[in-house]
Amino acid sequence: MLIRILKDYDAVSAYAADIITEVVKGNPSCVLGLATGSTPIGTYRKLIEEYRAGEVDFAQVRTYNLDEYYPMAPDHVQSYRHFMEEHLFRHINIVSENTHVPDGTAENPAAMCRDYDAAIRGAGGLDLQLLGIGRNGHIGFNEPGASLFASTHLTPLTENTIEANARFFSSPKEVPTHAVTMGMASILGARKILLLISGKDKHEALLRLYDDTVDPQCPATFLKLHPDVTVLADEEAYHG
Ligand code: F6R
Repeated sequence: MLIRILKDYDAVSAYAADIITEVVKGNPSCVLGLATGSTPIGTYRKLIEEYRAGEVDFAQVRTYNLDEYYPMAPDHVQSYRHFMEEHLFRHINIVSENTHVPDGTAENPAAMCRDYDAAIRGAGGLDLQLLGIGRNGHIGFNEPGASLFASTHLTPLTENTIEANARFFSSPKEVPTHAVTMGMASILGARKILLLISGKDKHEALLRLYDDTVDPQCPATFLKLHPDVTVLADEEAYHG
């Protein structure tokens, strides 16, 4: 695991976008695993700038997102599908059919999860998985206590997450009770992992990456088992 401390959020975003652009240039039909949340927004902004400057072409790129609320309609403003359209997809020349987000409306979520993993395998696997991290070290919706061996699965949201996300919905009752998330095994199957960490509230989570322990109570520590992980963190996250 290579941990780089950069000056600020902008520096993290620019560096992350450069890494992603290099992957796309090296393999124009690469498979990217993408994340939502506030952290990657700056990276997506930089990718859009690079696309507009003619520096990168997404025409053949395929993407698979980490997670989606369940139940959740794709056109709901709080859906992760909507997030991806707003923050990246509609601004670049990616082909809509090549973008994938777990289906928050699936009648049989277990079957949908199996199909999602099979589709990733069928696409040749993830060339790069972009990640953010929760204050508690969660990755995707793999919360403390997560299994190292899980593939994509349906998981209940913790009380904390429901409370934290209630502000985005008109009432706490509207917050979905579950999410579909790639499991740690799906994530660790990516050839390359890029984890972004920004802000002082992520300080404790970042510190957990420096020691040599793997602890299911901090799922991000599972990433230490992977041979090609780059962590880009800003000074706020480093100093706390
Ligand atoms: C996003 C995701 C989450 C976020 C994490 C950090 O797809 O799965 O694990 O990466 O909650 O969120 P932000 O970036 O909003 O601090």
